[in-house]
Amino acid sequence: MVQHVAFVTGAGSGIGREIARLLASRSLKIIVADINMAGAEETVSIIKENNGEAAAVYCDVTNLESVKSAVQDSLNYYQQIDVLVNNAGWDKVEPFLKSEPDTWKRIIDINLMGQIHTCKAILPLMIESGYGKVVNIASDAARVGSSGEAVYSAAKGGVVALTKTLAREMARHKININCVAPGPSNTPLFQEIGSYNEGLAGALEKAIPFRRLAQPEDIAGAVAYFVSDEAGYVTGQTLSVSGGLTML
Ligand SMILES: NC(=O)c1ccc[n+]([C@@H]2O[C@H](COP(=O)([O-])OP(=O)(O)OC[C@H]3O[C@@H](n4cnc5c(N)ncnc54)[C@H](O)[C@@H]3O)[C@@H](O)[C@H]2O)c1
Repeated sequence: MVQHVAFVTGAGSGIGREIARLLASRSLKIIVADINMAGAEETVSIIKENNGEAAAVYCDVTNLESVKSAVQDSLNYYQQIDVLVNNAGWDKVEPFLKSEPDTWKRIIDINLMGQIHTCKAILPLMIESGYGKVVNIASDAARVGSSGEAVYSAAKGGVVALTKTLAREMARHKININCVAPGPSNTPLFQEIGSYNEGLAGALEKAIPFRRLAQPEDIAGAVAYFVSDEAGYVTGQTLSVSGGLTML
């Protein structure tokens, strides 16, 4: 059986780590791509302890040269990349009128330009091999808005639109490109946001029909579906995983 290779950005923490762990448990080899090498190495250890295969590579998604060099490092490990999960992301929650250009730039560079860079570097490899699955992590902020996250919502809206157009362009090459839009999820990023917005988690738990935040496992399951053969005829879609908070 062919063992596919997945390049997962931001896999040194939170949702990305769980995506990497789940795909490894389904026999994919994992490239854990992150700027946080300590976190990336920890993810690799977790995968190896469970008899999976993984390697950590330094990858700053905001920088195309860094992405290209991470792709080369990955090819040195595993010779191919069949699956790309664009998960790296970052946000600072604050009212739009209090936010400043440096923050906007950082948010757009990580959340939107990062996905553009990895697609530019990795899609040609998929075209050459005639196989590819791309899963872009957006956010429900892209679909329904989210107070305090104006520029982040715009960047994630860009991710949804990028997904649709690339899905059209890549269909002739048998490459599927889909989007997972998490609702509020219990991760280090959310805890950072929650730490200066006391009461946020409790308020969300009341509003979410399932009465709990998403766990990274909930998001990883949706990614695994898009990567699976069962989703072979699905492309250009955005799936919200939000415990019913958003129904679109
Ligand atoms: N947690 C939530 O509530 C939530 C909700 C909706 C969407 N999301 C999205 O899910 C994804 C994962 O978020 P998380 O909550 O697990 O966050 P997290 O902070 O736990 O993990 C994000 C990872 O991305 C990495 N990263 C940051 N900048 C990077 C860069 N320039 N290059 C490479 N890696 C970089 C970090 O080092 C970290 O390991 C993000 O795209 C986020 O926007 C999260």
